[in-house]
Amino acid sequence: MEVTLRPWRPEDAEFAAQYADDREIARWLRDIFPHPYARQDAENFVRACLAADEEHELLRVVELDGQPAGSIALTRGTDVYRMGGELGYWLGRPFWGRGAMTETVKQMCRLGFACWDIVRIFAQPFADNLASRRVLEKAGFSLEGVLRQSVCKWGRLQDSCIYALLREESV
Ligand SMILES: CC(C)(COP(=O)(O)OP(=O)(O)OC[C@H]1O[C@@H](n2cnc3c(N)ncnc32)[C@H](O)[C@@H]1OP(=O)(O)O)[C@@H](O)C(=O)NCCC(=O)NCCS
Repeated sequence: MEVTLRPWRPEDAEFAAQYADDREIARWLRDIFPHPYARQDAENFVRACLAADEEHELLRVVELDGQPAGSIALTRGTDVYRMGGELGYWLGRPFWGRGAMTETVKQMCRLGFACWDIVRIFAQPFADNLASRRVLEKAGFSLEGVLRQSVCKWGRLQDSCIYALLREESV
């Protein structure tokens, strides 16, 4: 399976609407990710991606063997956090469990370190999100800490974990 990252295109609203309307995706993401996820949500998201400033956000479609399957974003920190970036990602359910997101995260980190002078990339999965935590571990990230009761998702308080990769650790 070939994993490719490419910029968003207007027609990507179709695949995004198809796969993002999934409770098993939304439950692990911030509330800004809509649920249910309507076609209009996908169109709004794609429009925002097309207008994004690459100095601050790297937004990519994850393609598997040429088929759009998911989304990954790297957002640069601001102010004293400007030397770091935060990763966020999801993959359509039919594509889970094949190593695609591990490869995607590795590629996005290489891209982020190549495009920006940042020294650190981090992600903050909810503690129970074992699949995402495993992705980060396989991509070389280190667990730096558990942020107790840091998340309130759909009425439930939960811990989150902070994982990071430094520039010199990127492969
Ligand atoms: C998290 C997500 C991106 C993973 O994508 P993926 O392509 O399936 O990930 P990979 O195949 O690269 O790796 C998944 C790893 O987690 C493991 N895993 C999956 N479910 C698991 C579970 N319930 N418990 C323990 N490990 C689990 C897999 O076995 C695999 O590890 P392995 O290679 O050692 O066997 C995908 O499940 C997803 O989009 N989830 C919803 C959105 C989300 O959680 N985004 C991240 C927010 S921080």
